[in-house]
Amino acid sequence: MADYILAIDQGTTSSRAIIFDKAGSIISTGQLEHEQIFPQAGWVEHNATQIWDNTREVIGQALGKANLTRHDIAAVGITNQRETAVVWDKNTGRPVYNAIVWQDTRTQPIVDRLAADGGVERFKQQVGLPLATYFSGTKIVWILENVPGAREKAEAGDLLFGTTDTWVLWNLTGGVDGGVHATDVTNASRTMFMDLETLAWDDDILAAFGVPKSMLPEIKSSSEVYGTAHSSSLLREVPVAGILGDQQAATFGQAAFDAGESKNTYGTGNFLIFNTGEEIVHSKNGLLTTLGYKLGDAAPHYALEGSIAVTGSLIQWLRDNLGLFSSAPEVEALAKTVEDNGGAYFVPAFSGLFAPYWRPDARGALVGLTRFVNKGHIARAALEATAFQTREVLDAVNADSGVDLTELKVDGGMIANNTLMQFQADILGVPVVRPVVAETTALGAAYAAGLAVGFWSSLDELRANWQEDSRWVPSMDPAERDRQLRLWKKAVTKTFDWVDADVK
Ligand SMILES: Nc1ncnc2c1ncn2[C@@H]1O[C@H](COP(=O)(O)OP(=O)(O)OP(=O)(O)O)[C@@H](O)[C@H]1O
Ligand SMILES: [Mg+2]
Repeated sequence: MADYILAIDQGTTSSRAIIFDKAGSIISTGQLEHEQIFPQAGWVEHNATQIWDNTREVIGQALGKANLTRHDIAAVGITNQRETAVVWDKNTGRPVYNAIVWQDTRTQPIVDRLAADGGVERFKQQVGLPLATYFSGTKIVWILENVPGAREKAEAGDLLFGTTDTWVLWNLTGGVDGGVHATDVTNASRTMFMDLETLAWDDDILAAFGVPKSMLPEIKSSSEVYGTAHSSSLLREVPVAGILGDQQAATFGQAAFDAGESKNTYGTGNFLIFNTGEEIVHSKNGLLTTLGYKLGDAAPHYALEGSIAVTGSLIQWLRDNLGLFSSAPEVEALAKTVEDNGGAYFVPAFSGLFAPYWRPDARGALVGLTRFVNKGHIARAALEATAFQTREVLDAVNADSGVDLTELKVDGGMIANNTLMQFQADILGVPVVRPVVAETTALGAAYAAGLAVGFWSSLDELRANWQEDSRWVPSMDPAERDRQLRLWKKAVTKTFDWVDADVK
């Protein structure tokens, strides 16, 4: 068998192709960012055609850098930004509208309309999610209602929907020339349409949303051969054999396979996933119930998830919208120009607040300002916001599970920031642990694909690949931690009730 697995990580800010060997080590990487399109306040779009073009190019970069060809690749895995919705014409392969990104809040009126009968928890028992703009379902409805001709074409069976895993899979396996239209259970569990128990699309919910079933991809497991790459691809004939949404992929890449295991990813947003094994657990504390993974015919694994919309993207906002520095890692030096936050607290409720509050009426606030506060304090408050939000999600996980986590496994772009990681350990009061391979998202997709084709034989083999790199231990005085948490929670309350009927 070929010696490597290639993972495609179609993320919110960039698309990557990463080639792994059997030990789970990175052999080479290709990466390209795509445009972030903000047509109006609250709207966030991507050009799906650019995403597919970039995906093809990064596959070429990764193969070229390592001097490999398709013959060296045993299988391809796909992981992706999750709730971002693409709708395209199956006859032309062209998207009918830009991809509507998970952070986009334009569908709040559709949410309100659906919630008018039964509230935001109307479908929560079946799908594990409250009605919210975050999930892909209302984004499909928006496209059907606002793109001229879309509704008619969809009813005629000419339009397909997919999150970006499906978009990449369909194109990679041939597009209009026989492309496979499928997704995995983890991505399907973010639409609002998949029943957690049957793992099938729910006809009643589809009817309530007015979405034709013919648009939806077939729901498959996370680890099986979905098809092979098309002859037009550099990966011609290589099996595509794993799909996991990015957060579930990171959990899998962290080898958190069993009930009680968890991880927290620090990327554009933060996402803490807590594996509940084969049990469906409904949260009483603002967490989502979601699929963890499903390997072929084996029973599905479920998870609780604390989703935070804005963490790393707040650092990008300081960079791009305020011009405080020119690259994200520079935030650390700026934050270190001061001792502490100077009394400033920054609650980045740019898309409302997700877990554990779920407040669409919230908007961002920077509070506690005095003449003393300078840009160093603001940089520090922005970093601290990530740690405080994570603490609130961890409290919810502990409350739901009834057992306190004793340490937190972390990954994602922000964990390169030592100041943040130390503050995180201080605010949690438990150690924070980073693995050697920090690209756990791509690694998890590679694992899923490799398991399906026998490249790896068991979860134990994967567990043995996990190695600790560094560990931060708490050193803050507990009274000081409590004081700061109290101020943070007070700051959060200042963001509530901002959106009135006439505020966008
Ligand atoms: N040293 C740093 N300190 C703080 N934040 C950082 C640092 N380096 C990167 N970031 C932030 O991390 C994020 C990128 O992390 P990562 O690449 O894991 O994101 P991602 O969410 O996986 O991206 P994608 O959404 O494309 O998948 C950016 O939002 C960036 O602002
Ligand atoms: Mg990512």
